Amino acid sequence: MLVLGIETSCDETAVGIVEDRFALRANIIASQAELHAPFGGVVPEVAARAHLAQLVPTVDHALVSAGVGLSDIDAIAVTAGPGLAGALLVGVSAAKGMALAHDVPLIGVNHLRAHVEAAQLEYGELEPPLLALVVSGGHTSIVVMDADGRFRQLGGTIDDAAGEAFDKIARFIGLGYPGGPEIDRLAQQGDPTAFAFPRAMLHDDSYDLSLSGLKTAVIRELRRLEAAGEQPDLADVAASFQEAIVDVQVAKTLRAAGAEGLDQIVLAGGVAANSRLRARFAAECEANGQRLIVPSIPLCTDNGAMVAASGANLLAAGVTSDLGLAVDPNLALAAADATA
Ligand code: KG4
Ligand code: ZN
Repeated sequence: MLVLGIETSCDETAVGIVEDRFALRANIIASQAELHAPFGGVVPEVAARAHLAQLVPTVDHALVSAGVGLSDIDAIAVTAGPGLAGALLVGVSAAKGMALAHDVPLIGVNHLRAHVEAAQLEYGELEPPLLALVVSGGHTSIVVMDADGRFRQLGGTIDDAAGEAFDKIARFIGLGYPGGPEIDRLAQQGDPTAFAFPRAMLHDDSYDLSLSGLKTAVIRELRRLEAAGEQPDLADVAASFQEAIVDVQVAKTLRAAGAEGLDQIVLAGGVAANSRLRARFAAECEANGQRLIVPSIPLCTDNGAMVAASGANLLAAGVTSDLGLAVDPNLALAAADATA
């Protein structure tokens, strides 16, 4: 059973092919980063137009990569939300056309659920209950995947998403877009204790996080140094900023896992590609005897394979969409169909 997954929710035109729910057959990503870089962020209209231009070649590339033809595909999965409306519409419209033309099922997928389920391509069947930290450019959520496969949100950011904070600070210190990987690289040469940036809400009872104060603190410190005629070491700034973000995510996620009695933790989304976040979780989970499930980097950042995997799970559970499938830019993780 081959499922082709289409992802166009943001700035990657991505197509993946998954066989029998767990085997990755193709994962092709046409990044638009260069198109958006001059603007310092994703321009929705530019993204939608680029998806339209890149989608068919990316589908073709994925089919060649998997060594199959479109007629071998058993179902078309597509991200229906959350994401940019115009960008989502390109993928969903294309998926409808392909499903109709080839007379195969169409499956609308929740992008956030797909980020979590990407892990099954490397770890096999997920066995909920488990705790997931979903951290991307648009989302930062601490969620439980209950035994029935449904998601329950425990907490999340009350202002900026983690990826958004990385991207904004990167832009402020003159690094390229997307900023997360750039900060990650620069931070490796810096001292994470050089600046004492705030860890907002670290010790409160909730599982919510706030990152906008951290962003402001970094910007204020850089302006202060500049006014004093001092040259900050940007590697130290990057490392200290990153450490503050990582500290809060690790602390809150592990506290949530403890409170819920869960010993499996999934890291998902683009920020889960962060080397420091991965290393800190690896060390803490090992010390606590928790199982850490974290996909390799190409399966953390936006990709089509995760959409194919999530779609394959829905198909196996008998959940498909009709041609009336709409996009939902604000689709919540808790709204995702259960597949377990
Ligand atoms: O999941 P994703 O690819 O797209 C969304 O669904 O938003 O996440 C993109 C975000 C961007 O903000 C990017 O800067 C961040 O993930 N990111 C990283 C790293 N790689 C990507 N943030 C920190 N460290 C990284 N290595
Ligand atoms: Zn994403």
